[in-house]
Amino acid sequence: MLGRFTKGTATVRIEPVLAGSPGFKPAAPADVQAKSALAESQKAADDLLPLKVDLHRHLIDRFNLATLESASKDDILSDIRPIVRDFVRARNVPLNARELDQLTSDTADEMLGLGPIEPLLKDDTVNDILINTHERVFIERRGVIEETGIRFRDEAHLLRIVNKIVSAIGRRVDESAPMVDARLSDGSRVNIAVRPISVDGPLVSIRKFSKKPYSLERLMEMGSIRQPMVDLLRIAVQSRKSILVSGGTGSGKTTLLNALSNYISFRERLITIEDAAELQLQQPHVGRLETRPPNVEGRGEVRQRELVKNALRMRPDRIIVGEVRGEEAFDMLQAMNTGHEGSMTSIHANTPRDAISRLEQMIGMAGMPMTAESIRSQIASAIDIIVQTQRLSDGGRRVVSISEVTGMEGTVIQMQEIYQFVRRDVTADGTIIGEFRATGMRPRFAGEAATLGLHFAKDAFNPQTAL
Ligand SMILES: Nc1ncnc2c1ncn2[C@@H]1O[C@H](COP(=O)(O)OP(=O)(O)OP(=O)(O)O)[C@@H](O)[C@H]1O
Ligand SMILES: [Mg+2]
Repeated sequence: MLGRFTKGTATVRIEPVLAGSPGFKPAAPADVQAKSALAESQKAADDLLPLKVDLHRHLIDRFNLATLESASKDDILSDIRPIVRDFVRARNVPLNARELDQLTSDTADEMLGLGPIEPLLKDDTVNDILINTHERVFIERRGVIEETGIRFRDEAHLLRIVNKIVSAIGRRVDESAPMVDARLSDGSRVNIAVRPISVDGPLVSIRKFSKKPYSLERLMEMGSIRQPMVDLLRIAVQSRKSILVSGGTGSGKTTLLNALSNYISFRERLITIEDAAELQLQQPHVGRLETRPPNVEGRGEVRQRELVKNALRMRPDRIIVGEVRGEEAFDMLQAMNTGHEGSMTSIHANTPRDAISRLEQMIGMAGMPMTAESIRSQIASAIDIIVQTQRLSDGGRRVVSISEVTGMEGTVIQMQEIYQFVRRDVTADGTIIGEFRATGMRPRFAGEAATLGLHFAKDAFNPQTAL
């Protein structure tokens, strides 16, 4: 059997793990980790990963990958079974027959799918997969970037996998179209850049789709937010306050938007608008819209702005725009000001103030004849709450500020911060010490919320009590 897919040479290439730049830690030796994995089944998926990665590398050196792509799982299974068994035995990993079968089957899946990164795709603790040419693959896990030691055989191998990804959405990636956004079948978001724009070879960035969306309660358990802050956001959503989630790249904006949407009534009709559909709303009545890039001839593009306009004709109760980036900000604010209160979106900005000035710029892009002052008053009346997320240097994500937009004074938008995260110190290993605090300000909408029967806890805004 082995003959069909194997190549003449069956050498095992043991790649040296490249010493990464500071901050990147190389993967631990596979066998050491694998043993502990079996002892603690909870950590199994996590710790078996290096073994799987090594095994995969061992196998791709022995098999002809091009032929493999058209092989069936049964064929691959019978071919690799003896190899996997010998590999595991040589490393003294104590697997029983059932576990060995499982490993063999997982490995076959990996050979059929997206190659060496398959184990990373299956591992729920991995958030991001960052491929920097065929030679280096990094992952982000619990907020920390580490190098994996995974390699593709050569650039052609990586390109083959890249094309497998993009062919699923009917695209191709080559010199004439060197940048593509795509999605994996599990919903993960992928960006691909190849030569000539990526100088050293293909760059692939994958944001894994989290199978179980985080709830605010879960984010609270993870230390990203505190109960009174959750209550504030819940009551804001239930009183149809329009919310802007602001934050840097990968700071948890989409995650928070998703969690906030849980508090929207199941009786409402929601329309979501995104570049790549990532939101996972739990309501039964959701219409999802997604933008479209232009095709190879440069036609057929559908932008967010058109989608927002279209959404308004779809009788939504609320509109949720994954992230505002440009001209659509104008239409989004219009919607918030005209009967779609309680709509939400996120924006790439570093502080709540910065979020406002970016919104101003974006509204300017819509090309409407508006003065700076009228743009500001549109913003002030449309946006009620700004939530700032941040990815701190210890890898943790936190809600570092919740502010309320209270109106205009002269030409300046007024805001009051209600909760904040105050940094106190950093430990030697980089963990940030700090605390969440109420500023002492009460939200202005508390009175309105009370008329809806939504009340805050007695001490919710007391700066003296610990959150
Ligand atoms: N509070 C949190 N604690 C730990 N991990 C988190 C938290 N919030 C989000 N994450 C994880 O961080 C990653 C980035 O989150 P998310 O996609 O929400 O960020 P984003 O700000 O929308 O990113 P982008 O700018 O790329 O759109 C995801 O893998 C997510 O699961
Ligand atoms: Mg996002």
